[in-house]
Amino acid sequence: MSRARNRTGANRHGEDAEHLGRGGQSEGDVGSGGTGPVATSVKDERLAVARTLGTRAGRAAAGACALEGRSLIEQVLAAGTPLREVLRAEGASSAEDERLAGRLQDRGVAVHRVRDGVLRQVAGTARPVAWLALAALPPDAEVTAPWGDFALVCDGVADPGNLGTLVRSGRALGIEDVVLTNPTTDVTSRRVLDASRGTVLTTRTRRFASPSEAVAALRSAGFQIVATSPRGRQLQALAALDGRPVALVVGGETSGVSQEVIEAADLLVAIPMAGAVESLNVGVAAGISLYELRTKRVLAVLTERIRNSLGRDVTLTGRFIRDALDRAAREAAGLSSAQVIALMVVTAERRTPGDELRRDLGVGDRELDELTAPLTERGWLERQENTYVRTPAGEQALAALWPVQQQVEQQLLTGLSADERQVLQDLLGRVRANATRIMGS
Ligand SMILES: C[S@@+](CC[C@H](N)C(=O)[O-])C[C@H]1O[C@@H](n2cnc3c(N)ncnc32)[C@H](O)[C@@H]1O
Repeated sequence: MSRARNRTGANRHGEDAEHLGRGGQSEGDVGSGGTGPVATSVKDERLAVARTLGTRAGRAAAGACALEGRSLIEQVLAAGTPLREVLRAEGASSAEDERLAGRLQDRGVAVHRVRDGVLRQVAGTARPVAWLALAALPPDAEVTAPWGDFALVCDGVADPGNLGTLVRSGRALGIEDVVLTNPTTDVTSRRVLDASRGTVLTTRTRRFASPSEAVAALRSAGFQIVATSPRGRQLQALAALDGRPVALVVGGETSGVSQEVIEAADLLVAIPMAGAVESLNVGVAAGISLYELRTKRVLAVLTERIRNSLGRDVTLTGRFIRDALDRAAREAAGLSSAQVIALMVVTAERRTPGDELRRDLGVGDRELDELTAPLTERGWLERQENTYVRTPAGEQALAALWPVQQQVEQQLLTGLSADERQVLQDLLGRVRANATRIMGS
């Protein structure tokens, strides 16, 4: 990977980038909203750097790129992208233009007023240009920089409009990492910046010497590599994401994803197409894939989190334990385990107030009445107003049930040492105390 490259894919010249920051400003213009002397010639010193940004070599030398138009400039400002300086056509004087000038002034960005025809010449276009902003080119990300959980890999995508669309769609779907498999791909041309709405300037972009190198780096970073092709081996909708971060690979306009990536990929997926269409436009295909796989991944991660949550583990374990105890109590005495516990509590305490018993069993008033009814009917408990009292018949029944209960408990704790059982009980007690505190707060 080329670390010293900037986003033009060419080597960066830091001195020129510095020069842009200082030399482009004139005292009268800094933070003035453009009230300084109007530049009336393309030879004006303040336009020197802007004049060079129409070519890739010029951008690489200056370490900067140009953003054209009020709306694009507003968007990059809103995204917090720093601007070095801004050129404003003399004729750009609507209320919206003034608002933008105000914002630039608030940010301390130098604005130079330029004669309309001159600004058009500087921008190198035949159509009118009202605003042109100069932004610094961020360097490509280091290969060792941290990755997010989803990367978009552009494998040989060459059309600037497509590249910009890919980055824009990726960012819209929360993707931070873009990988380029061609060392010379330029993502700083006016068309890329425009199509990406400036998002290339704030995207973590890594550039590799070849598709194989890109795949190797993604693999060692733990990515599941999902390549796309109209002739994919499986339908994208059925692709099984395995929980690793996903690297979605889209291919170039003509040749598609390169053969080495197809061979190395974990999955090769297709978006089904009807009719006599050979393939989708890469920007359109990537939009569909990003949405489908991103949603799939979010759902997979969510399901995994739910599966691994402590609450689910404890709830499930509690339910299984209760089911095992219920079955044993039903078989032995036609009772539920909660009824056996009620019998145990009252028999051990002699007299238990209804409120206490309700708390012990974790049930409401009505449920307690229903739960204790078979016990009072059998004469195993007696109810005196709101208190439950033990009876000799209940003591006898419990003596018969006790071994059953013990047996199930032993089975449940099979394989745990005495110390482990004690630790388990302590831990559960502490979690229960925390939960009680949360409920009480
Ligand atoms: C214009 S297509 C490339 C066409 C090329 N002839 C090929 O066969 O791959 C550009 C890229 O868009 C994506 N693509 C286009 N249609 C697709 C489809 N039906 N399913 C999956 N990906 C598709 C792939 O990443 C493809 O490499």
